[in-house]
Amino acid sequence: MAPGWPSVTPGTGELLRLARDVAVEAGELAARLRREGVEVQGTKSSPIDIVTAADRAAEDLVRGRLAAARPGDGFLGEESGAGAGTSGITWVVDPIDGTVNYLYDLPNWSVSIAAVEGEPDPGTWRALAGAVAAPALGEVFTASSGSGAHLGDRALQVRPPAALDRALLSTGFHYTQEIRGNQARVAAGIIPRIRDLRRTGGAAIDLASVAAGRLDGFFEQGLNPWDQAAGALLVAEAGGAVTGLGGAAPSQRMVIAGHPALVRELDELLQALGA
Ligand code: IPD
Ligand code: CA
Ligand code: CA
Repeated sequence: MAPGWPSVTPGTGELLRLARDVAVEAGELAARLRREGVEVQGTKSSPIDIVTAADRAAEDLVRGRLAAARPGDGFLGEESGAGAGTSGITWVVDPIDGTVNYLYDLPNWSVSIAAVEGEPDPGTWRALAGAVAAPALGEVFTASSGSGAHLGDRALQVRPPAALDRALLSTGFHYTQEIRGNQARVAAGIIPRIRDLRRTGGAAIDLASVAAGRLDGFFEQGLNPWDQAAGALLVAEAGGAVTGLGGAAPSQRMVIAGHPALVRELDELLQALGA
């Protein structure tokens, strides 16, 4: 184990190292492609949901490296879809989370890689290891089940529970205008009740920021499994909770993250606002 590496339980150590190494390598590739210039190559769920050549190149690199290292594992990636495995472990990958930031050369983008056990569904999976590499910030967040969350070699801890009116929260907005309308209405109801609301443009870094104590909490409707897999493990391993509405499991419907006491309060407020 390299100096400065967090100690991990046997089994997840290999997954953690692989997640981290591949996230860092894909991040370096994406950063180099960014310096060479970036263009929108296509759109997905809506005209503002874009894909660049770097999204595809980074996912190809990640998929290839993981398949070479662990050929029996499954894969679920934003750009190339799902591939079944035989080991019971699936890699859930967002090659660039925060693509719009990446396009505009804002630094909040990351490569997010997690290994999960079970179906690649946030409601039922058991996340084993995850990495969020943010090259433009020079930061790599890692977590493995039962061994804590780390930024480099620094152990992470969520902030102590804040009263809602002192809580700094972050959220995100869906690419679909119809869902955004409801999100804007909910945000308008929340803003007068909290310290402030950030929209950083990357759910993986938002969740990593909750784990690092840089935000009190985070909520977002409409997240896909790859947006949240690694980040949710970071929050859980930093002593936080990640739930859906009404204490349900996190899902596309809603993800709420933070100190468990804050998550309960925020959950109630979101329900009261019809989120
Ligand atoms: C998006 C970002 C954004 C969030 C969106 C995600 P992408 O991921 O995480 O912050 O608000 O819901 O889809 O498209 O940049 O990978
Ligand atoms: Ca994403
Ligand atoms: Ca993405």
